Amino acid sequence: MKILVTGGLGFIGSHTVVELQNEGFEVVIIDDCSNSSEKVLDGITSITGKKPWFEKIDLKEKQKVEDFFKRHEDIKGVIHFAASKAVGESVEKPLLYYENNIGTLVYLLKELSKKAKSSFIFSSSCTVYGQADKMPITEDAPVKEAESPYGNTKQMGEEIIRDTCKVTPSLNAIALRYFNPMGAHPTVQIGELPIGVPQNLVPFITQTGAGIRKELSVFGDDYPTSDGTCVRDYIYVVDLAKAHVVALQRLLAGNNRTNYEVFNVGTGKGSTVLEVIQSFERMSGKKLNYKIVDRRPGDITTAYADTTQANNELGWKSRYTLDEAMKSAWEWEQKIRN
Ligand code: WQD
Repeated sequence: MKILVTGGLGFIGSHTVVELQNEGFEVVIIDDCSNSSEKVLDGITSITGKKPWFEKIDLKEKQKVEDFFKRHEDIKGVIHFAASKAVGESVEKPLLYYENNIGTLVYLLKELSKKAKSSFIFSSSCTVYGQADKMPITEDAPVKEAESPYGNTKQMGEEIIRDTCKVTPSLNAIALRYFNPMGAHPTVQIGELPIGVPQNLVPFITQTGAGIRKELSVFGDDYPTSDGTCVRDYIYVVDLAKAHVVALQRLLAGNNRTNYEVFNVGTGKGSTVLEVIQSFERMSGKKLNYKIVDRRPGDITTAYADTTQANNELGWKSRYTLDEAMKSAWEWEQKIRN
């Protein structure tokens, strides 16, 4: 069965391609390589022994999207990762984010709406909750005013899909709200490849451990948490990738209750920034160089998932610990530095 993975050369996309191939799916990747490299194809192939079909297409080019679907009429499902995802950049360049994250989604949905039946998995984010009032966060927690155009594109994306599914019974969709993805494949063949100075905590930690960054700045230790630093739900990227496969299989098998569903994908456990640093130090055997600085504007204090829905409905549960995920992140960092 042929599945399209947009953004399949990216961090979460490449790990999902591996899990799809492991399940016997035929995978086609579309990626514009704006934030990824074709070399990732070799990493995927070295893990699974199967080279996915790849087409370098910018999904903003409507005609190219139409032509692609004409050439691949046997696509049964789409997992849509392709999007810009840097929170800070989205504040400076909102129109780039609305064009790239929303325009492309509309073109994809137009193509899928033409098919007799289609399954669509959307890469959403816990960022839609903002600072939720209650922990752990359930899927019916209110969606709050987005803190950034990036977060807004995730909220709008969910609404666009929901509204399309309402009038397109042939379209079956699931939005997966990721918490904080981290780590790399245990084979050390694929992992996170942040371009420039990493915005996210874990790659900044591993680059500091590798001596590429002088020290980590911890953005505030005066939050109302166990040790004053922010709490997040760090989920291992392989666990997250597997969640996409089970969500797709749910739709392909027609086991979905409605044709638009939403699931949190996290571990259900919160970790503070200092606990993540301690995990790195345990896994690497190295002391991490860090200093406490001012809070980062826009950061929320705490977010971790209630995963009951994914556990019960998808039959999926995260299996790896923070330390195991951190070990993989560190091994990957060392590999790409050599
Ligand atoms: C985690 C914690 C920082 C860097 C973002 C996006 C979200 C999703 C995941 C795409 C926070 C602290 C970080 C550093 C630090 N991305 N930190 N020093 O902000 O929870 O979520 O990435 O979907 O949409 O919003 O992740 O890794 O940036 O920060 O102290 O150098 O680490 O303050 O508490 P975040 P993050």
